[in-house]
Amino acid sequence: MRGAFEEILSSRALVFVSGKGGVGKSVVSALLALLAREMGKSPVLFECDAPRRPSPFPGGRAITDELREVVPGILAVNQDSEEAVRAYAHASLPSKALADLLFQNRVSRLFLRASPSVNEMALIGRVVQLAEERADKGPVIVDLHATGHALAMLRAPDGIMRVLRAGPVYERAKKVREFVNDKSRTAMVTVALPEELPVTELLEFLDQLNELGAPLGPVVANGVFVEPKPHLPDALLEDLTANPTLESFGHDLRFLRSWARRATREAQRLAEGAVERGAECVALPYISDLSPDETQAGRLAAELA
Ligand SMILES: Nc1ncnc2c1ncn2[C@@H]1O[C@H](COP(=O)(O)OP(=O)(O)O)[C@@H](O)[C@H]1O
Ligand SMILES: [Mg+2]
Repeated sequence: MRGAFEEILSSRALVFVSGKGGVGKSVVSALLALLAREMGKSPVLFECDAPRRPSPFPGGRAITDELREVVPGILAVNQDSEEAVRAYAHASLPSKALADLLFQNRVSRLFLRASPSVNEMALIGRVVQLAEERADKGPVIVDLHATGHALAMLRAPDGIMRVLRAGPVYERAKKVREFVNDKSRTAMVTVALPEELPVTELLEFLDQLNELGAPLGPVVANGVFVEPKPHLPDALLEDLTANPTLESFGHDLRFLRSWARRATREAQRLAEGAVERGAECVALPYISDLSPDETQAGRLAAELA
């Protein structure tokens, strides 16, 4: 199961993690960082405008806007997107003075931030630069926002290239596009919950990624709850629900069983759809019993070991 993760973590410099909100992108990103460290790498966990929250790593330091080690062997940063746009402007415009002038002006600052492709280009440019710098040390793992944001980011270099047609900014956008479309350097990990609509949406997202030529990494079915074996006999469930004192217990069990069966069915549909689209599927279990010194990512890493 961890083989699919190990394959990309050992070979790629840049790993994007995307999926709908709340499906576990941040947990999976942190899990990948832990697995990369176990493999002797020194990964970077890259977040963008993430809300403040406890460290995803057991005993970890907070992830701030400064790239730093948050647990031994793992670096992390929470990139402020405005700062990324400023750095991009500095690198792209002919003079630093001009870039500063643009940024001091509220209107041009707003304009820069609102321009299609600029925001996304700044971010994707930043992560590619980081991945280039750290190529031998370990992958940069990007905890992306929802799928729309991921698509906008992947399309940004083309948007810039269409407007500019030549020059250093054009050349840089071209390099960035080559980097993220190169399956020897980049992988796109996608995450879904094993439920009907999320699975359907993720399969559509995979189609869009394939159309863009983005290299697909493993597809994660996250939070899969497996029905324990031996399965409950139907007759036992019926007896429970017929018994006035055990009735609610019987209903709970019936609910859990149908939930587990649906999750298994949807995880299966996700796996088949992923294979049809050229990707592998990895199922991660639902973790319900964390102790205070654990994190979900830490637990999943331990369970995959
Ligand atoms: N495998 C899992 N088992 C149980 N809870 C999970 C699992 N993966 C994620 N969660 C929980 O689901 C919520 C959303 O996860 P998160 O990684 O923050 O999602 P996203 O980054 O996609 O918005 C969090 O409360 C997280 O702890
Ligand atoms: Mg998140």
